[in-house]
Amino acid sequence: MRGSASPPSSGPTSRSSSSATCAPRGSRPRSCSRRSPSSPGWCSGSTPREPLPPDPGCWPGRLLRALGNGVLYGVFADVLFIVAAAVGTLFLVLSDGRRALEERSLQLEQLTHQLLRAQEDERRRIARELHDQAGQVLTAVKIELDLEGRREASEMVGQALAQVRDLSNLLRPSVLDLGLVPALRGLVEDFGRRTRVDAALEIDEPLAPFGPELEVALFRVVQEALTNVARHAAAGRVDVRVGVENGSVRLAVEDDGRGFAGEPTPHLGLLGIRERVTALGGALAIESAPGQGFRLEATIPTGAVA
Ligand SMILES: Nc1ncnc2c1ncn2[C@@H]1O[C@H](COP(=O)(O)OP(=O)(O)OP(=O)(O)O)[C@@H](O)[C@H]1O
Ligand SMILES: [Mg+2]
Repeated sequence: MRGSASPPSSGPTSRSSSSATCAPRGSRPRSCSRRSPSSPGWCSGSTPREPLPPDPGCWPGRLLRALGNGVLYGVFADVLFIVAAAVGTLFLVLSDGRRALEERSLQLEQLTHQLLRAQEDERRRIARELHDQAGQVLTAVKIELDLEGRREASEMVGQALAQVRDLSNLLRPSVLDLGLVPALRGLVEDFGRRTRVDAALEIDEPLAPFGPELEVALFRVVQEALTNVARHAAAGRVDVRVGVENGSVRLAVEDDGRGFAGEPTPHLGLLGIRERVTALGGALAIESAPGQGFRLEATIPTGAVA
């Protein structure tokens, strides 16, 4: 139909395409039965009067839809807000709990440091008292007995004097005054002599002097580990190795004894070792298997100060 002047189609396509243009508010009829093809959103004719259904293309429909959307968005925003608030609260509670836990473990660590330091101070004090008081008195008595020619009594006092000296040395490793290396050497040699276990000490020398806390800790760890070898291992040989690697001192005590199945239940000995090592920021590893010996390795930063 060339040159036809027929009006443009008013099918669904054209209607939806023009749905964005509603009539001005003041000129809108109250109700209508038919839509005007030329003005979508408007109605043509005036009868019969029936309410206009909320058509998405007509402004009340769009208003309702907008309101509906608004309500929906509002609910959605509320839900989102509640979820965000809940997650935030949960996060705060969790981070508060974690902070409290971290503070607690820090306090516990500081308490352990103080306890170990107090223990060492107390041991040092008792050792000094033993040496200066009991030691002096026993020495004086021994001299008197010797002068009187009472040999038997003098020998007994001499034994008591040696025990006091041993005890005093045990309480405070005065051998450490000579340095860690001679102190460890003396400890290992003495252990070998007393137990008949073949005991060897291997040190990566020269070993720079460490802080007093670290030296006391290393000495005590070796002391307890060797005591354990004598008590539990039934070993023929024990090796003590000390070396420095990447800013940490590594101490290993390894025996070829009966070993242990699974994790040994730590008593005061191993607990004390672990406490000393961790108090200085170090780590303790224990390896053992039945019939395959027992190996204990402590790694402690050399700059460690309790
Ligand atoms: N060298 C070892 N060989 C075999 N078992 C060992 C060795 N060292 C430790 N154990 C095992 O680990 C356990 C815990 O050792 P730990 O030193 O803590 O306690 P303990 O020696 O029994 O008592 P104490 O508290 O008086 O030291 C020991 O009872 C023992 O069973
Ligand atoms: Mg023990």
